[in-house]
Amino acid sequence: MEDTHKLLIIVGSVREGRFGPVVGSWVAEQAREHGGFDVDVIDLADIDIPLALPAASPKYAGDSYPRPAGMAALTSALEEADAFIVVTPEYNHSYPASLKAAIDWHFTQWTAKPVAFVSYGGAAGGRHAVLHLENVLTELHAVTIRDGLAFPNYFTAWEDGRPLDPGAPGYAKTLLDQLGWWAGALRSAREAAPYPA
Ligand SMILES: Cc1cc2nc3c(=O)[nH]c(=O)nc-3n(C[C@H](O)[C@H](O)[C@H](O)COP(=O)(O)O)c2cc1C
Repeated sequence: MEDTHKLLIIVGSVREGRFGPVVGSWVAEQAREHGGFDVDVIDLADIDIPLALPAASPKYAGDSYPRPAGMAALTSALEEADAFIVVTPEYNHSYPASLKAAIDWHFTQWTAKPVAFVSYGGAAGGRHAVLHLENVLTELHAVTIRDGLAFPNYFTAWEDGRPLDPGAPGYAKTLLDQLGWWAGALRSAREAAPYPA
């Protein structure tokens, strides 16, 4: 088994003036310093993600699923990844529609792979968004990681692109250690036998 796992960090918000890329950059830095991952970052603002889906389900359509050309980078990044970190804000006690659309255009790309969460928002730190994401990603047979990072009131909790909490890098390491463990375990399992979806 290779020593490093392919990690895809997904920046989920696409709003004008968004904070998401700041969080995504810091998470990517933590993942690169961790050393257990080959890190890629995808920003959903760079991807064409229509809300109107094709008639067929991506669960059964396989490679013939008719995705727009502007989604190809997302699809191949999801396909190649052994693990994911979803960076999400909280919008009206859930996660942004951009993230839901990106998820719904895919299915098997998530199956039998681990997903961790880094969230931010007001008082709840995006925890409502993560609860919803855990529920949704279970439907795709993904495995969600318990120890996420949540940044309540991020507007006072971050400065110069970094969280002020000195414990944050340590929490990120715990998340990455757990994600790496699951990435290795699930990759070995996928290589040993097809997942019985
Ligand atoms: C439509 C909308 C709804 C929001 N709802 C919530 C919410 O329910 N809970 C919360 O903590 N923050 C909420 N916020 C504040 C966001 O967490 C905050 O604006 C954050 O910066 C959004 O992430 P972004 O900048 O990456 O888009 C909301 C923001 C928007 C734009």
